[in-house]
Amino acid sequence: MPRLPLGLLALTIWGGAPSHPTANARPDARSCQACHQRIVASFSRTAHFQTSAEATARAIRGRFSEGHNLLHTRVEGVSFKMERRNGAFYQTGVDSLRGTSRTESIDLVIGSGRRGQSYLYWRGGLLFELPASYLTAIGQWINSPGYTDGQIDFGRLIIPRCLECHTTSFVLLEDRGRVRYSREYVLSISCEKCHGDGRAHVRYQASHPTATPGKYILNPGRFPRDRRLDNCAFCHSGDRDATKPAFSYRPGEKLDDYFGPPSDQEAVPDVHGNQVGLLRRSKCFRSRPDMSCSTCHDVHRPQRDLRALAGKCLTCHEISRHKMATTIGSRMISSCIDCHMPNQPSHAIEINTATTQSSLYFRSHAIGIYPEIAATVLQLHKEQQRR
Ligand code: HEC
Ligand code: HEC
Ligand code: HEC
Ligand code: HEC
Ligand code: HEC
Ligand code: HEC
Ligand code: HEC
Repeated sequence: MPRLPLGLLALTIWGGAPSHPTANARPDARSCQACHQRIVASFSRTAHFQTSAEATARAIRGRFSEGHNLLHTRVEGVSFKMERRNGAFYQTGVDSLRGTSRTESIDLVIGSGRRGQSYLYWRGGLLFELPASYLTAIGQWINSPGYTDGQIDFGRLIIPRCLECHTTSFVLLEDRGRVRYSREYVLSISCEKCHGDGRAHVRYQASHPTATPGKYILNPGRFPRDRRLDNCAFCHSGDRDATKPAFSYRPGEKLDDYFGPPSDQEAVPDVHGNQVGLLRRSKCFRSRPDMSCSTCHDVHRPQRDLRALAGKCLTCHEISRHKMATTIGSRMISSCIDCHMPNQPSHAIEINTATTQSSLYFRSHAIGIYPEIAATVLQLHKEQQRR
């Protein structure tokens, strides 16, 4: 992403007044807990809920112990060191040849850590990305996306759109001609991101304890398909140009009124972050006007069980009619997803440090027939059996 001048930040508040003047009075998941205990308990274990947090030992996945807390670069003498002191966390860029260094604290964490995390620090009421991110699979610190290897640079400004996808709310204020984020923000992706403001609902249900169905709350399950998809596409359709201020979109509204055209109308949608564009290409989606993300996903619980997810395919497909049923045999359920929704490398995120060069892999939502991948899966299985 290109680095943005401060002036552009100001543009994003053209609406003027913040949309949530009383941010601190807003309910979070806790205010739903009394009545939706099961949902809140399982939701707190999801990637959505864990995708942003204040920097605490629990939230930070990156390692600080001796031998694991360094990021070496290709430039001689330049490295980054991660440290924990008196309960606070820091990143320091050191240029030992020039004898210079710069230290900033880790203030906020972005990313559940399933793949990795980036870290932000406050400066003058604005947020900036720290130069070192952490990659879980290799257990190493890497250059943060957008930073050049070997430069001691802490200058990448965090724009509202980044926070819009990874947090519940931030408000950009204009304060005596200067732009800053309000300190009244809500981290993590919470219920209201998909259900809208829940205050009226909480008030009503509390004073009408026997009333069903629930009132004054949005249920995306009742939206028409396009709005149901928009609800997820808001964050799962990749990079799109905003035409309205960040944090103004509300569930149930038409996404095209807030963003330029999605990238799936351009070249190939990237497997990172554009599940909507990829799913749209699949025959399943095109043949079934009722299919949406919720056909397979229950966003109130972690979505990692490949067998359970394969079970969702069987609401429409029959194993007994599979052309390769005998060849596949007992692998039918356990490899279903690997054959038809293979993990593929993202071109949007490539890792490039002094010691590591690789890509991150994401599950493709272009459900389809991938003959070569299927052959590899079957071959691997044969080899495992022979052992
Ligand atoms: C005082 C109890 C109470 C609280 C607090 C509460 N709810 Fe509900 N909610 C209910 C009841 C009762 C229903 C109707 C029965 C059901 O669907 O479970 C309901 C239904 C819902 C529905 C389905 C509505 C529909 O049209 O199908 C959603 C979504 C919902 N609540 C979300 C929330 C969220 C988000 C919060 C927190 C901001 C919350 N609720 C807090 C009691 C409560
Ligand atoms: C990422 C979006 C998203 C978030 C975040 C989210 N929900 Fe939902 N919720 C949905 C969708 C989509 C449905 C409709 C599911 C369907 O159609 O099967 C739904 C349905 C519901 C319902 C209706 C009953 C049911 O289980 O289908 C309740 C109650 C509910 N959500 C409560 C909550 C609460 C409480 C939270 C926060 C702890 C929350 N939701 C967070 C997307 C979300
Ligand atoms: C406000 C932005 C936002 C919205 C709205 C949203 N997501 Fe997400 N979603 C994310 C982010 C960010 C992640 C990655 C979180 C992480 O790992 O840090 C994610 C992760 C996921 C995952 C991976 C979960 C896992 O266990 O790894 C699934 C599945 C998912 N989203 C489905 C949905 C569906 C379905 C909807 C619509 C009902 C939806 N999301 C709406 C931002 C959003
Ligand atoms: C358009 C929405 C969107 C924007 C903007 C966005 N992200 Fe994400 N981000 C996602 C989604 C969705 C995922 C989950 C990846 C997936 O499975 O496709 C994700 C994944 C991540 C992860 C990996 C989390 C994990 O453990 O798997 C990190 C770290 C991250 N984003 C940081 C950032 C930062 C920092 C910014 C801003 C500079 C940013 N993202 C901007 C939607 C967004
Ligand atoms: C809501 C129903 C539905 C669900 C759920 C569903 N599909 Fe489909 N799928 C269809 C329909 C309809 C077609 C097109 C008609 C056909 O070829 O049978 C299709 C086609 C396909 C095809 C042929 C694709 C091609 O390009 O020729 C494959 C492979 C497939 N589905 C696999 C899956 C897998 C794997 C899952 C689960 C991850 C899944 N489907 C979930 C309805 C569904
Ligand atoms: C036909 C079933 C199906 C549908 C429909 C579906 N998904 Fe998925 N999704 C899966 C499976 C299977 C996985 C793999 C889970 C894993 O690898 O842990 C997955 C994984 C994901 C992930 C994590 C990706 C990664 O590689 O980390 C995200 C994000 C996601 N889905 C979002 C969505 C969104 C948004 C929609 C709607 C546009 C959607 N999904 C529709 C089956 C589906
Ligand atoms: C070992 C890999 C593998 C596994 C496991 C697998 N498939 Fe397939 N599947 C294939 C291949 C390859 C084809 C193409 C077969 C052909 O056209 O001869 C195919 C074809 C299909 C088709 C299109 C059938 C048609 O009539 O054109 C559907 C639908 C499908 N698979 C669904 C599934 C579902 C659902 C599962 C899991 C529950 C599954 N497959 C498990 C490899 C696999």
